[in-house]
Amino acid sequence: MNKIVVLLTALGLALGLSFSVQAGPEEDLKAFQGYFKKNFPDVPFDEWSNGLYALPAAADRRAEWEQIEEFPPYELDLAKGKKFWETNNLASCFKNGGKGIAQNYPYWDKKRKEVRTVELDINECLTRQGKKPIKNLKKGTMAQVVSHFRSMSKGNRVKIDLSDPGARVEYTRGRQYFWAKRGQLNFSCANCHVHQAGKFIGGNILSAGLGHGVGFPTYRNKWGGLGTLHRRYGGCNKQVRAKPLKAQSKEYRALELFEAYMNTGLPLTAPSNRG
Ligand code: HEC
Repeated sequence: MNKIVVLLTALGLALGLSFSVQAGPEEDLKAFQGYFKKNFPDVPFDEWSNGLYALPAAADRRAEWEQIEEFPPYELDLAKGKKFWETNNLASCFKNGGKGIAQNYPYWDKKRKEVRTVELDINECLTRQGKKPIKNLKKGTMAQVVSHFRSMSKGNRVKIDLSDPGARVEYTRGRQYFWAKRGQLNFSCANCHVHQAGKFIGGNILSAGLGHGVGFPTYRNKWGGLGTLHRRYGGCNKQVRAKPLKAQSKEYRALELFEAYMNTGLPLTAPSNRG
């Protein structure tokens, strides 16, 4: 058994707090953000955009991280993403040329009745122009282009529209995914990123679910480059020995919608470095 498995087994399943079954998104949001405010009173709200580095437990890693962000390892990738965006005239498919709109992603498409992520919109834009869509949805070109798109909205505050009943159905699907236990280790996302947030696990500090995604794509040494949010979801599924789903699957898009809504009001920081 590896270190994480031993630790998880030791933690057991006697973890308190869960959320009421019938609450709507608005009540969820209050409870979710309230939980972190109560448990981490010294962390200013906007700090949650910085992932694990927001946490008191990461204080000694923080200086190094800030230094890296000054000359970020993803600079070249970001430039490549910009070039791809421009060469392929992607601005032509997006409102306002793609500037300042990333805070509203993902969104519910009423006509098509589905959750749209920027990855899907980018590929659709390529297809519409008779070009090949980007195949790898987890890293490489897609991660670079999404980084460029999101960097044009840096600092904008997350605002997700759930007014359509269809959006709320997908929100509920994502919410369930976040709270349901899975894998051989029988752990939910919430077990690690709500109940154990701020604690150490196998040398890692567990980030709070609040802020998940606002820094994505992120650069990780382990990945040797940028990765998309759905790449991270897959990695987290594997940690509990659950089968990862496909990037851009319906479930992961619903999960992204749920997590993004929980981030309401947080500033976008993507792309970012996560060491
Ligand atoms: C066994 C514990 C565990 C479980 C369960 C787990 N994760 Fe993670 N997750 C981690 C660790 C460790 C990291 C890396 C440190 C960090 O940022 O939290 C991480 C990182 C992340 C990040 C990156 C945060 C950032 O800003 O860099 C996201 C997003 C994420 N997890 C989402 C999920 C989702 C969604 C689920 C459920 C499908 C999940 N995780 C389940 C352990 C877990």
